[in-house]
Amino acid sequence: MKRRLHALLAAAGLLALLLPAGLPAADMGTMMGQGMGMGQGVGQGMGMMQNADGAHLLMHITKTDPYVKWNLMPGTTRMRQGLEPHGALQNVYVNKLAMKAFKDKAGSLPDGAIIVKENYTPDGKLAAVTVMNKKKGYNPEAGDYLWLKYTPDMKIQAQGKADPCIKCHAKAKDNDWVVLAPLK
Ligand code: HEC
Repeated sequence: MKRRLHALLAAAGLLALLLPAGLPAADMGTMMGQGMGMGQGVGQGMGMMQNADGAHLLMHITKTDPYVKWNLMPGTTRMRQGLEPHGALQNVYVNKLAMKAFKDKAGSLPDGAIIVKENYTPDGKLAAVTVMNKKKGYNPEAGDYLWLKYTPDMKIQAQGKADPCIKCHAKAKDNDWVVLAPLK
């Protein structure tokens, strides 16, 4: 009897050791769940993969290759004045691949190019971050972009092949769906 209790306690101890290892996966699930709940794609029947794309891009531009260290898009200044539906004040950052394409007037952005736009309220409060990421083969009908919008507390509000973004940016189709700086 005593021995069995011992074995039980040992098993419980082992379980306690194992449990923390399971936590990061649960956290990831919550994060993705949030993205899904508020995501653009839910009503459009988009799958988990697309939400994972947005979450992955968010990690990339905040942790792996933080956009705050990138250069501003050519021709733009810090806290430039913007238009609806984006921020009244904006900082527009481009990664190296995108920068090269703008400088070379490459005609279009290459695979892996990223543009990140911080959107501020008129009184200078960060309201949202909107992102375009060129991914070859991702969405050929609409310029092959992964779109992303998230709040300062990292909640994803739109991602993937987000219709509203695509519809409006279609006006700039001739410039590879980019509004602000010429690629030709
Ligand atoms: C109603 C039109 C409209 C919609 C909808 C829209 N945009 Fe834009 N976007 C613009 C305009 C206009 C600019 C130029 C900046 C400015 O003046 O605000 C721009 C600029 C951008 C830029 C900087 C690169 C560029 O094209 O100049 C990014 C990144 C961007 N938008 C992302 C998004 C994302 C992500 C969405 C969807 C969540 C979105 N946009 C929805 C009109 C729109």
